[in-house]
Amino acid sequence: MNETTTLSGPPIYGHTQVVGVIGWPIEHSVSPPMHNAAFQALGLDWCYVPFAVRPEELKEAIAGITALGLRGINATVPHKQALLPLMDELTTAARTIGAVNTVLVQGKRLIGHNTDAQGFLRALRETGFDPEGCKAIVLGAGGAARAIVYALASVGSQVTILNRTPERAKQLAAEFSQVNPKASLQGGPLTPGALAQARGAQLIVNTTPVGMWPNTQESPWPREVSFPQGVLLFDLIYNPRETRLMRQARGAGARAVDGLRMLVHQGAEAFELWTGQSPPVEVMYQACLAVLGGNGKNGKNGGNGGR
Ligand code: ATR
Repeated sequence: MNETTTLSGPPIYGHTQVVGVIGWPIEHSVSPPMHNAAFQALGLDWCYVPFAVRPEELKEAIAGITALGLRGINATVPHKQALLPLMDELTTAARTIGAVNTVLVQGKRLIGHNTDAQGFLRALRETGFDPEGCKAIVLGAGGAARAIVYALASVGSQVTILNRTPERAKQLAAEFSQVNPKASLQGGPLTPGALAQARGAQLIVNTTPVGMWPNTQESPWPREVSFPQGVLLFDLIYNPRETRLMRQARGAGARAVDGLRMLVHQGAEAFELWTGQSPPVEVMYQACLAVLGGNGKNGKNGGNGGR
């Protein structure tokens, strides 16, 4: 250490409360700077630590949460699904989505939450879009789509899931049809014909990794189909910050939002669950931007939520 070195980050004492994130790998996660910036902004004696946990050691790591006195944990790839049977209790969202991204410690009990769906809805509302009962198209039917479809179903939307493998889309629609009787869900193929019929939609959500760095010239939306005007496009990808699909949307006069706001809001939900404090969302957003830069080189899912 030389004289010009400055130390940054939250001061850690014997009484500091510890939370963190488990993943494998974990070094690209933006969650530690995002949460630590939030703790500092509110003057909370908390810190957030990254833990590289091998899949075969997940059980031991989870047992360590209460043994070490951690207050909570976020989980990212590849642990979100594997956490389900290791929890003492699951929220309806976590059970239905089939993934835990936030663990809340209550005494010695581990409560498995999923804040991706609420994070998505908060990010949508922040743009001024009211998702209640909206007509939406979801591109993709994989793991990331589950939180989105759950969120949209829970607010009574009419959701059409379009996927390269249409059976997966139909299966997801059938599986989530019980979430809310006011919602209507259907699945179909991700084809130019199906997209061309999507004119009446108010919201289009891309949950596929198509267009994500390094394949930034790709788009799930075929060139020959014009993008509908007046729709809100939500691309879960945040690297690059503007995907080819977002450019197609903006070129057609539609609004486009990237996945960083969802990443921040799922983190904000976790922050609130752990601390009981109102999260400083803008501080968290700026901390992510500082790490990612304008077009950071992190791949998909640097933290939780978003891609
Ligand atoms: P994740 O958990 O990150 O969502 P996933 O479960 O593998 O990942 O799902 C990826 C989704 O993107 C799937 O819907 C996948 O379509 P298939 O079900 O047909 O595999 C979709 N996807 C991936 N690559 C794609 C591509 N090149 N074109 C269209 N859809 C693609």
